[in-house]
Amino acid sequence: MNKPIIEARNVSFQYEGAQSPAVNDVSLSVAQGEFVAVLGRNGSGKSTFAKLLNALQLPTSGELIVNGIKAVTEDDCYEVRKSCGMVFQNPDNQIVTTIVEEDCAFGLENLGTPPEEIRRRVDEALESVGMSDYALASPSMLSGGQKQRIAVAGVLAMRPKIIVFDESTAMLDPIGRRDVFGIARRLNLEERITVVWITHFMEEAALADRVVVMDGGKIALEGTPREVFSRTEQVLELGLDVPEMMKLSRQLRDKGLSLPEGLMTVEEMAVELCRLK
Ligand SMILES: Nc1ncnc2c1ncn2[C@@H]1O[C@H](COP(=O)(O)OP(=O)(O)OP(=O)(O)O)[C@@H](O)[C@H]1O
Ligand SMILES: [Mg+2]
Repeated sequence: MNKPIIEARNVSFQYEGAQSPAVNDVSLSVAQGEFVAVLGRNGSGKSTFAKLLNALQLPTSGELIVNGIKAVTEDDCYEVRKSCGMVFQNPDNQIVTTIVEEDCAFGLENLGTPPEEIRRRVDEALESVGMSDYALASPSMLSGGQKQRIAVAGVLAMRPKIIVFDESTAMLDPIGRRDVFGIARRLNLEERITVVWITHFMEEAALADRVVVMDGGKIALEGTPREVFSRTEQVLELGLDVPEMMKLSRQLRDKGLSLPEGLMTVEEMAVELCRLK
């Protein structure tokens, strides 16, 4: 396994005035270049954990090291945010200017990056998310999926080592959803960007390297998608579901078709069905 880029040791976080911690004694190590999906019912602590990774909040107790930095001072937080970008659920909340390329340049301008370096990085980032043709467009004219791609480009321009996506496909139509997920997966595989992918879509989690399920602020279940989703009863108890193809393959097996266990994606199902004849 590659060396960890995220190391959480017994991390807890409690909001002021709250009765119990939103993140409760979480220990998790994420290797550089890993794509980890984080699942869990509403209120299980996923977004709070994301904010800890991004040093938007600091742990109440425990130790969290992101890209070798344990955030204590304001300067540390700033360094953590540079190495760990965030893409949120609602693209409208992330877009701050009226021209796409200016929006992507916003973070770099704040860092005082020289203009020619900004130009290069923004062009590269827009190219990487397939939005070069829209550099001079107004974000308000774009679809939800396109806006989300711009948000990803803005983060990419900062050259982060990690990107946390907090339900970034939740408000998109199926095409936008597939686009944005596909971009995250490609950035992970080709650029070796570590991805923490928070989602309510089991089909997305099925395509991750590893799945972490949170419940009541704790990690309730963890493993490869196959390992996690094979524990159907436990997954259902945690307020989740298993991927549709897993259910379908079980139903087909019950009807006598000889399909292997653990089929999770449409592609895997198609291959197995063609093999049956
Ligand atoms: N700003 C806040 N102040 C106080 N409590 C909060 C705050 N934000 C979240 N919480 C509480 O912390 C717990 C975890 O919330 P969090 O938003 O991290 O969950 P989540 O898993 O992201 O949920 P969802 O799937 O709905 O996005 C919940 O009990 C929530 O009510
Ligand atoms: Mg959330």
